[in-house]
This record gives sequence, C-alpha cells and structure tokens, in this order.
Amino acid sequence: MSYETILVEQRDAVTLITINRPQALNALNTQVLAELSDAFAKYDADPSQRCAVLTGSGEKAFAAGADIKQMADKPASDFFLEDFFSGWQRDVVATRKPWIAAVAGFALGGGCEVAMMADFIIAADTAKFGQPEIKLGVAPGMGGSQRLTRAVGKAKAMEMCLTGRMMDAAEAERASLVSRVVPAADLLDEALKTAATIAAMPPMATMINKEMVNLAFESGLNQGVLSERRLFQILTATEDKMEGMAAFVEKRPGVWKGR
Ligand code: CAA
Repeated sequence: MSYETILVEQRDAVTLITINRPQALNALNTQVLAELSDAFAKYDADPSQRCAVLTGSGEKAFAAGADIKQMADKPASDFFLEDFFSGWQRDVVATRKPWIAAVAGFALGGGCEVAMMADFIIAADTAKFGQPEIKLGVAPGMGGSQRLTRAVGKAKAMEMCLTGRMMDAAEAERASLVSRVVPAADLLDEALKTAATIAAMPPMATMINKEMVNLAFESGLNQGVLSERRLFQILTATEDKMEGMAAFVEKRPGVWKGR
C-alpha cells in the first residue's frame, strides 16, 4: 500500500509514523485511518522494529480531530452500518508492540483520542488537549470519554467533555495525561530517544509489560493482579529471561534473542 496522508520511516529499530495533512491540521479522515491501520500492522509484524512513534506534521497540530468535513453530511444510518470509528480500536489500539504519541500543538477530539491510544504521550510545551465534540452536537466516538476519564479522573474529564475546554501541556502533565513535557524543538528527538531505549529492551518483555499495564485499565484489581502474575510466569520461560538474569549476575549487558 502506498501512503498519501501519512509518512513512515524506519530509524534503526524505531518506526516513525507522521500524520501528514498539515493543511487540514492533520484531521483524521477514513484514508488516514486506512493508512495508519496498514502502517501499524506492518510495524507489528516486522521483527526488526521494536518501538514506534506517532506524530503530526507541522508545528500547529498533532491532529485537530476526526475530519468534520467528511462527517458533516453523512447520515446516521451510514455511521452505524459502517460501524464508523471501529477501525481505530480494531487496527490501531490492537497493536501489540509499544508505541509513543509525540504531541505538539492541537490534539483535539479524535486527535486527543488517538494520542490516548498510545502507550504513553510525550508532549511539547505547545500541546493542547481537548474533547470539543459537544460544540458540534456530538460526543467523543473513538474512546475519548473512557480513556480521558481513566487518565485524568472524572472531574477534569467531565469538565472537558461538557465545556470543550482545552488543557495545556502543563496541566496535562499535572493531570497525568502525558508522561512528560519537553520544549517543542526537542519533541521528536526526545520521543525517538525514548523509543530507542524501549527498542533496546527484550522484545517479548516489552510486549508483556505493555499488556500488563493496559490490564489495569481493562479489568478489576483481582483479575488484573492474577493476569499479571500469569504473564510474569510466562516470561520466566523465555531465553531472554535466562540471559537477562545471567547478564546481571555476570555484570555485563544482556544480548536479546526475542524469544
Ligand atoms: N476536520 C476537518 N478540517 C479541519 C479540522 C477538522 N477536525 N480542524 C481543522 N480543519 C481545517 C480547517 O477547516 C481549515 O481548513 P480550510 O483552510 O480549508 O478552511 C484548516 O484545517 C485550518 O484550520 P483553522 O483555519 O480552523 O485554524 P485555526 O488556527 O483558526 O483554528 C482549531 C484551529 C481551533 C484547531 C480549529 O481548526 C478547530 O476548532 N478545529 C476543529 C476541532 C474539533 O472540533 N475537533 C473535533 C472534531 S470531531 C471528532 O473528532 C469526532 C469524534 O471523536 C466523535
């Protein structure tokens, strides 16, 4: 598949994916979703790639939402029959390997929702997050009301969804929506450096650590703790566990096999 709305490049073991519709503030239309679905599937399937970074082109926006122009005249029955937005959960959230959202400028509506699909967000000091769908007579449709509430708690999520108010980068860091804020000029370097750190970890352990942390969002405490213990026990069967622990005892870096 050749891409028209995204750019994909591999930098050693890190895949950098850039949403590339700067003239529309990287608004997410169905073509962007189809291309991202393809790019994330290829990333997940390529054993040479160990971490990914998703960002937006231009300084102004990560993504200013789902494409309003594409949705404006669409009948409700089409949204339902196409199960509109379901591909984000099926193809993007389902990515088993880790990926980071690097957010500068606006991350609004679907843009905020896609950033929250990432394993974590690194924000530029210019980042602005919001769920302004209410102003369009709708509501989040790609998981925003659920992920935002889990990330920042009911009070802030409710205020943002009901008023459309944007959160700046400093507030987003205080509220734990993002892991870190960096100067805009350093955003991509910082995200790629962090991705390279993850890419150097034992691959199965990164996938299982990701699955474990996500369990905290998806299950009750007892089920989550039990599943964590079982996943931990699975990792103890890997060659990389033998190597990692032997390397520690022998005071040398580990050499990973990915199995
Ligand atoms: N969809 C389609 N086009 C968009 C867009 C979007 N979400 N956001 C911006 N654009 C387009 C604008 O229409 C404009 O195009 P033209 O030059 O052809 O007019 C271009 O991008 C630049 O945008 P602005 O001129 O509006 O830039 P600005 O600096 O004045 O304002 C902004 C920036 C505040 C982000 C403003 O663009 C804005 O409010 N955008 C919409 C934000 C929004 O409501 N997002 C939620 C969408 S709904 C959603 O995401 C669905 C869902 O979850 C259910």
